[in-house]
Amino acid sequence: MKQDNKKYTENNLSYALNENSLISPLDSESPFFAPKIRLGILASGNGSNFEYIIKSIKKKQLNAEISILIVNNPNCLAIKKAIKYKIPYVIINHRDCNSRFEHDMLVMKKLEELSVELVVMAGWMRIVGEEIIKRFKNRLINIHPSLLPSFKGVDAIQQAIDKRVTITGCTVHYVQKEVDSGAIIIQAAVPIKEKDSKETLKTRIQNMEHIILPLAIAKVANNIRTRFKDNK
Ligand code: GRF
Repeated sequence: MKQDNKKYTENNLSYALNENSLISPLDSESPFFAPKIRLGILASGNGSNFEYIIKSIKKKQLNAEISILIVNNPNCLAIKKAIKYKIPYVIINHRDCNSRFEHDMLVMKKLEELSVELVVMAGWMRIVGEEIIKRFKNRLINIHPSLLPSFKGVDAIQQAIDKRVTITGCTVHYVQKEVDSGAIIIQAAVPIKEKDSKETLKTRIQNMEHIILPLAIAKVANNIRTRFKDNK
C-alpha cells in the first residue's frame, strides 16, 4: 500500500503520513491484548496526552482502564480532565515532602495499592528515582517532545529551534535512571517549517504525541501480557 502523502487508515487508526509527520515503527494495527491493562498516569501540566489516552480507551483502540491519575501540582489542568471524564485522581504534592525519595515512595505506594501494571509519564515534570524504575521495570514509559537521543531534558522544542534542525518530533521510551535515555518504543518525526514559531511547532508535535502515546501503551501492554508477565 502506498502510504506517502496519503491518509492511511486501518483498524480504526488513522495516521497523517504526509509532509507534516512520519511515525516509526508504524505497524498495520495496534496490538490486541487481553485482559485490560491497568494504567497509572503521572502528569504535571495540561493533561492533553492524558485526555488522548482516555479517548483511545473510549474508542476501543486501547484495551485499558486508568486506575489513577497522579499529579504533583495541585493547580494543573490535568485534574480538570480527570473530573470531566470521572477518572480517579490524587494530588501528591512534592512540596509537601521532605525529599524526592519521600515523594517517590508516596507515588509508588499509590500505584501498588491500586495494582497498576503500566505507569505512563504523560508530562510528568519530575525525575523519578531508582526505586520506582526498578519496581516498574519494563512497565514505566515517558513521552518526550524531541527525536531522542537529540534534545534531552528541559525545553526540548526550543533546543531544536536553537540548533536550527529541520526535523524534530516526539519519542515514547522506557524510563531508566539517565533522563530521556531509555529504550525507544516509538517516534514521530515532525519537520520544522520556516515560518514556525515555538507555539505552532509545539502544536504539531503534540498532535503526534496524542497518536503515538496510546500506540506505545498498547505495544508495551502487549509485551506485559506476553513476555514480561512473570516479571511482576
Ligand atoms: C508533552 O509535550 C510531553 O512531551 C512533555 O510534556 C508535555 C505534556 O503535555 N513531556 P500535556 O500535559 O500532556 O498536554
